[in-house]
Amino acid sequence: MEKICVVGLGYVGLPTAILAAQHGYHVTGFDINTERVRRVNTGNVDLTEPELKERLKLVLKGKNFSATTILPEADCFIIAVPTPLSKQNGADLSFVFSAMNIIVQRLKVGDTVILESTIPVGTTDLCAQMLEQKTGLKIGKDIFVAHCPERVWPSKVFEELVNNERIIGGVTSACTKKAASFYQKFVKGALHLKSAKFAELLKLTENSAIDVAVALAHQVAVLAEELGFDPYEVVAIANKHPRVKILIPRCGVGGHCVAIDPWFLINTFPHKTRLFQSARLTNDERPAQVVKNIEKKVQDWCVDNEKNICRVHLLGLTYKPNVDDLRESPAIKVAEALFAQKNISLSISEPNVEQERIAHKFGTMVPFEVGIEKADIIVALVAHNQFKTLDLEKYSDKKWLDFAGLGWQQKTINLCKKNQEALLNL
Ligand SMILES: NC(=O)c1ccc[n+]([C@@H]2O[C@H](COP(=O)([O-])OP(=O)(O)OC[C@H]3O[C@@H](n4cnc5c(N)ncnc54)[C@H](O)[C@@H]3O)[C@@H](O)[C@H]2O)c1
Repeated sequence: MEKICVVGLGYVGLPTAILAAQHGYHVTGFDINTERVRRVNTGNVDLTEPELKERLKLVLKGKNFSATTILPEADCFIIAVPTPLSKQNGADLSFVFSAMNIIVQRLKVGDTVILESTIPVGTTDLCAQMLEQKTGLKIGKDIFVAHCPERVWPSKVFEELVNNERIIGGVTSACTKKAASFYQKFVKGALHLKSAKFAELLKLTENSAIDVAVALAHQVAVLAEELGFDPYEVVAIANKHPRVKILIPRCGVGGHCVAIDPWFLINTFPHKTRLFQSARLTNDERPAQVVKNIEKKVQDWCVDNEKNICRVHLLGLTYKPNVDDLRESPAIKVAEALFAQKNISLSISEPNVEQERIAHKFGTMVPFEVGIEKADIIVALVAHNQFKTLDLEKYSDKKWLDFAGLGWQQKTINLCKKNQEALLNL
């Protein structure tokens, strides 16, 4: 297995292609997006990930990697195309099926197809049947099909591609072994050789587990807020119990994984996923609860200050701290709802995203120092590093609300400190 073709040059596919090229494979990246292909070939790619540009330039120079919009021949095809949520809250598999229909034209005896995209249970077997029917090649004998879900953490992708343990699930055991032989060259973490369905279930279980853990934190926050307690203090003291570890509540769950993947299980097993459904709903309700909390504080402020309009400044819009990714961000839902309020003059700061990508959608975008200076109420929605060192004492005339877990509430700062760094980044 020497020639590799990576199908889909996004956050997952491009680093995988680069790493494979750095480990001696001859790699071609295939994408339907001509602009992405053009940029990849010039080394000036529009994806943000540490080491990406430097490593890309090295493999381009070494001539063992290039990108194309014409599918090449290969011994192994790695599929890393999007699997977004469909309108019915299931998986939109159109990109996966379209990729299968393209590679079918090139498949030959001995080839391997590995699905890295996150997919519902049963999808790998379905794709294998499709390939067998269309090519006449026998699965497990002539061609080999497996699912190897990606578990990387954006901002640590190259480190994790090498060091994470991987689950390799073949349609047959021969498929599993063939797929494993691709990863053995560059993965240092253990390879767990399983079936395709096992691998599919495992990946979706991992993200559902995170979703459930976050939902617990949000449930606790709602109860604490209802009773007038500081949710962070409740969590911090509960976590003093030696066997309790509640996550830090935030303004919701976003991104393209945790907010989406549990639905793939719920959709396939609607009667066996009550906990996952409940967690999804709990987390989806969180932005609206945060909005209600802010509205109440705004009303109180207007009464206390005999004003009709309160200037509110929101800190952060991305779906998690210290990234530039706005996909499914709960902070955006909060911003949209507040923007519609007549008694709120809204400004927002998001130091990690270029202004043009978000300007004028939900209010005035300003640098956070300016926003804080001019606001009556400041609300933290995302715990970016830039906000952790703010000097609240300097602005003691302002009201500060924390839905990001920055630990602003003086009492909780010390209590939270221990867990904060580990938990905030989820
Ligand atoms: N980004 C992550 O951190 C992460 C982590 C784990 C799993 N995943 C999963 O990996 C998969 C890919 O995610 P991503 O973030 O890399 O997506 P992405 O949107 O960044 O990239 C996908 C690429 O696939 C291309 N594409 C779409 N259809 C194609 C086709 N038929 N043929 C060739 N190229 C095609 C797109 O043009 C795009 O460049 C998804 O299933 C996602 O859930 C992502």
